[in-house]
Amino acid sequence: MDFQLTEEQEMIKQAARDFAQSELLPGVIERDELQKFPTDQIKKMGGLGFLGMMVDPNYGGSGMDTVSYVLAMEEISKIDASSAVIMSVNNSLVCWGIEEYGTEEQKQKYLPRLSKGEILGAFALSEPEAGSDATRQHTTAVDMGDFYLLNGTKNWITNGNSASVYLVVAQTHQDKGHKGINVFIVDRDMQGFEIGPKENKLGIRGSDTHSLMFTDVKVPKENRIGEDGFGFKFAMKTLAGGRIGIASQAFGIASGAYELALNYSQERKTFGKEIFNHQAIAFKLADMATQIQAARFLCLKAAWDKDTRKNYDQSGAMAKLYASRIAMETTIEAVQIFGGYGYVKEYHVERLMRDAKITQIYEGTSEIQKIVISRGLQQQN
Ligand code: CAA
Repeated sequence: MDFQLTEEQEMIKQAARDFAQSELLPGVIERDELQKFPTDQIKKMGGLGFLGMMVDPNYGGSGMDTVSYVLAMEEISKIDASSAVIMSVNNSLVCWGIEEYGTEEQKQKYLPRLSKGEILGAFALSEPEAGSDATRQHTTAVDMGDFYLLNGTKNWITNGNSASVYLVVAQTHQDKGHKGINVFIVDRDMQGFEIGPKENKLGIRGSDTHSLMFTDVKVPKENRIGEDGFGFKFAMKTLAGGRIGIASQAFGIASGAYELALNYSQERKTFGKEIFNHQAIAFKLADMATQIQAARFLCLKAAWDKDTRKNYDQSGAMAKLYASRIAMETTIEAVQIFGGYGYVKEYHVERLMRDAKITQIYEGTSEIQKIVISRGLQQQN
């Protein structure tokens, strides 16, 4: 087993770290406070290849592996978890889904612009009554011959207003349950498609989360992804990879809070010495460092499974379950180490604590990850 990163992976990690420090850190507090989307920063990320990291260069992507993606996600998430989720949805859910299962025409039409950040993508599965229970789709897509007629509402859609391309899950054959679900590429300018109001969120406030409304939207037949009825499997496979991205976001947030707390503990003095020299603080930092390393390894293992075409449903779910749990635990500890300073915005850790919570909710709650993991355990027996 080789724990050594390649030279290219080291370079990507460093490039992401430099970008986060120079471009994302300035203004991150203001963007959080004002719920301001990082438009310019995301454009620059596209220019640097961070929005189509695993896409084949023939389709305008960077052609990197999932391990590199995890490394970049960590560095971006340390500083700005909002930019990280925008990046993650575009990479893991939208680009990957189109590249893996789309037609040649769909790939050529969408991937180059998505990869370069000229446009953004969104993934629309959740509905008011279909979150964890993703098979219960109320959005319908009726086959009208040349096109599908799309009607329904989607909820909690990341990149909801900033995207130009939406992968929308809908029920085509009511009587077939999950086997009657399809996924469609919906362009923002299609008639009958409306964006609902922005959610006012606890964390990741720089990203935009909206509901979407579809009223008699005519979606051309060629915009369906995969065979008729493939939509639910498409969603499950795509989310399995998405969970590696969100797990990386989670331990990245933890890692950001840990680095801040470690630095602070070496500057701040109480009772005549730096607080790091109080065992109560040093032990907290030791626990945090250990948890983050364990989460990092789980993410890298899942990424390696994906890169080597092994099944990553379970390893991705384990990574997300654990990384999101320790993201919560370590950010709470970081705030505690900062004391009163941790409770105010300018020290960043309170934001990271708020950002951490969503990683236990989106792309499948922790309970959903346990369903996926436990089913995998049965299959192994
Ligand atoms: N790969 C391939 N196929 C899969 C699969 C996978 N990973 N998981 C399930 N399937 C298939 C099953 O084999 C089955 O097919 P067959 O009937 O042909 O055998 C079919 O899908 C149905 O599977 P289940 O019976 O297991 O389905 P279920 O109803 O029990 O649900 C679940 C399984 C894991 C709970 C699933 O519903 C799930 O993952 N729910 C959570 C959804 C989710 O993550 N939502 C997040 C929204 S997206 C988001 O948050 C993005 C964002 O904005 C940041």
